[in-house]
Amino acid sequence: MQAQSKQPPTGGMRAVQLHSFGGPEVLNVCEIPAPEAGPGQIRVRVTAAGLNPMDWIMTADADAAARFGLTLPAGFGTDYAGVVDQVGDGVTGFAPGDRVFGGALSRAVADFVVVDSAGGTAANEVHHTPDGVDDRTAATLTIAGRTASAALAAVNPGPDDTLLVGGASGGVGVFAVQLARVSGARVIGTGSAASADHLRALGAEPVVYGHGLADRVRALAPNGITAAIDLHGMETVHVARELGVPDSRICTIAAQVDGVAAANGANAAPGVLEEIACLVAAGHLRVPVAARFPIEQIRSAAALQAGRHVQGKVVIDL
Ligand SMILES: NC(=O)c1ccc[n+]([C@@H]2O[C@H](COP(=O)([O-])OP(=O)(O)OC[C@H]3O[C@@H](n4cnc5c(N)ncnc54)[C@H](OP(=O)(O)O)[C@@H]3O)[C@@H](O)[C@H]2O)c1
Repeated sequence: MQAQSKQPPTGGMRAVQLHSFGGPEVLNVCEIPAPEAGPGQIRVRVTAAGLNPMDWIMTADADAAARFGLTLPAGFGTDYAGVVDQVGDGVTGFAPGDRVFGGALSRAVADFVVVDSAGGTAANEVHHTPDGVDDRTAATLTIAGRTASAALAAVNPGPDDTLLVGGASGGVGVFAVQLARVSGARVIGTGSAASADHLRALGAEPVVYGHGLADRVRALAPNGITAAIDLHGMETVHVARELGVPDSRICTIAAQVDGVAAANGANAAPGVLEEIACLVAAGHLRVPVAARFPIEQIRSAAALQAGRHVQGKVVIDL
């Protein structure tokens, strides 16, 4: 195993840990032994971790945790970015000092994570961070980028489309809107009135969600919408159906609706994260970071994320 000198002298690390499942109040920063890279694995010195709803959904109670295979004491957070600091036997393609990002299921808010170098799911994956992408941005890409890409693949928007994106201003929305714009589609995005400028800056035409949404969309697009993705619940699915969009061009990520495809980031096409990272590096896609917190303020960060009104992403600095 190759090792850099950056390992802490104690062999320990800071990590957010839970000793019971629950809300932000169960999150504590603890000193625990740092993991070591085994064969086929790399260890990453984490510099930034991005939060997602799944972080607090899977740690909210024992039943949810069990569905994700979590046991106590558990860690917190999945999206990470940082620098490779150990490489296990048999690893090719990564070396100490490489800048990387990826996913480490419910263990990312820590000084170090260990992942399989050939891992291929958001729970366990690593990619090179291109020049031109800073670590805070890289730490936002994995779950939201995968999920936005999977949702768009289900409806395949192009230059002839007017796409309605429900819940467009959140973590998945910022990727979905911009990727749809890259495909050439016109994008109408739902958000609160307070998110209108944020949505415009992403390239979407804002429309306020809630009662009367179908009429407001009709007014914006008198010739109709041709596809829709619902990133929040079911409202956008129902409105799209009301406006005549066939189920084959509607997709959800946060609810189950009979007849409509449910996209999952786990099923995103291979290579999408590299493509998204390259778009960021080239200046064609940007990730608004709504707030950054030091690890010591993890409870505030988790509470903000769980409030469901973040415009973009929440990032923890390590
Ligand atoms: N299937 C999968 O693989 C997968 C993966 C990732 C996430 N998800 C799920 O997808 C959902 C979105 O994830 P995310 O990361 O984008 O969450 P997020 O960042 O927490 O989303 C926050 C956004 O939700 C918007 N919002 C709040 N109430 C809304 C409403 N009634 N209608 C429309 N938008 C509303 C907010 O907009 P305003 O501030 O303007 O109100 C805010 O910008 C979550 O439920 C998450 O669990 C699924």
